[in-house]
Amino acid sequence: MDHVLSRLPRWRDDNVLVGFETSDDAGVYKLTEECALVQTVDFFTPIVDDPHAFGGIAAANALSDVYAMGGRPLTAMAVLAYPASGDLEVLEKLMRGGAEKIHEAGCSLVGGHSINEEDVKFGYSVTGTVHPGKVWTNAGARVGDVLVLTKALGTGVIGTAVKRGMAEEADARAAEESMLQLNKGAAEAMAGLEVHGCTDVTGFGLLGHAREMGLASGVTLEIDVEAVRFLPGAERYAAMGAVPGGTRNNQEFIGECVEGRSAVDDLLYDPQTSGGLLAALGKHDAAVLVERCGSAFVVGSVVEKGRRPVRLEGRKR
Ligand code: CO
Ligand code: CO
Ligand code: CO
Repeated sequence: MDHVLSRLPRWRDDNVLVGFETSDDAGVYKLTEECALVQTVDFFTPIVDDPHAFGGIAAANALSDVYAMGGRPLTAMAVLAYPASGDLEVLEKLMRGGAEKIHEAGCSLVGGHSINEEDVKFGYSVTGTVHPGKVWTNAGARVGDVLVLTKALGTGVIGTAVKRGMAEEADARAAEESMLQLNKGAAEAMAGLEVHGCTDVTGFGLLGHAREMGLASGVTLEIDVEAVRFLPGAERYAAMGAVPGGTRNNQEFIGECVEGRSAVDDLLYDPQTSGGLLAALGKHDAAVLVERCGSAFVVGSVVEKGRRPVRLEGRKR
């Protein structure tokens, strides 16, 4: 879609603070000097069998893009593709799981749209607000910043292992819990800190989203491979070949932007669903964030722009 969008004419509007040009998480539109709208939409096919959990994950994933911009979600609209002949009890579980998660975020479900289709797809369009001067874009990372990630990686690999019947129940549960976890707490832990850059780690994997921040900020993001944390079982399942197709696409698309390789590349490129926030902050603020947010950890640092927007350090092949 990026390719096609880039070919469309641009109608300039000074109130558009963040448009589609910088691969940011959400669009931001200034309403007044104190208030801007944050708007995003995300939907996908079921990634877990339990419809209630899938609904919650779809909601957490859609809300995440508002948090990643420093915004507060206010309203959500459901986007649904479901077969007319489908099981209505299953649908109710799905919608209920989503609605409960939207409510947990302090956000109001105000409507939605559904179409009749064989393959189920579900998600939300979420609208929030942010102060126009406090938008966390991809573009502000500075040399010397520390990179913090707020969730462990591996949801793609574990989802694939579950589909192939390879995953242990406890590992599947841990991945599901991670995807259900709202990024609200992480965003609140960042409130009051000087956040230079922020995005959530989703379909393009850690390195794909690091690439976007590196390019938008005109710096190189150095990822410390030894410091990256993985969900329980993720490294083992990746070694057993439970690698989703999206990982290879990411490697093809992003690989040339990454200097260095590691033994855990399959996880660094692993497409995440409802992944954590990746933030660039000064050294002190990064330490405060890690202290405040239990699941957060330092994952690298921002260095002078090198040959490529992302560089791997440690555990090279
Ligand atoms: Co995003
Ligand atoms: Co998104
Ligand atoms: Co952002």
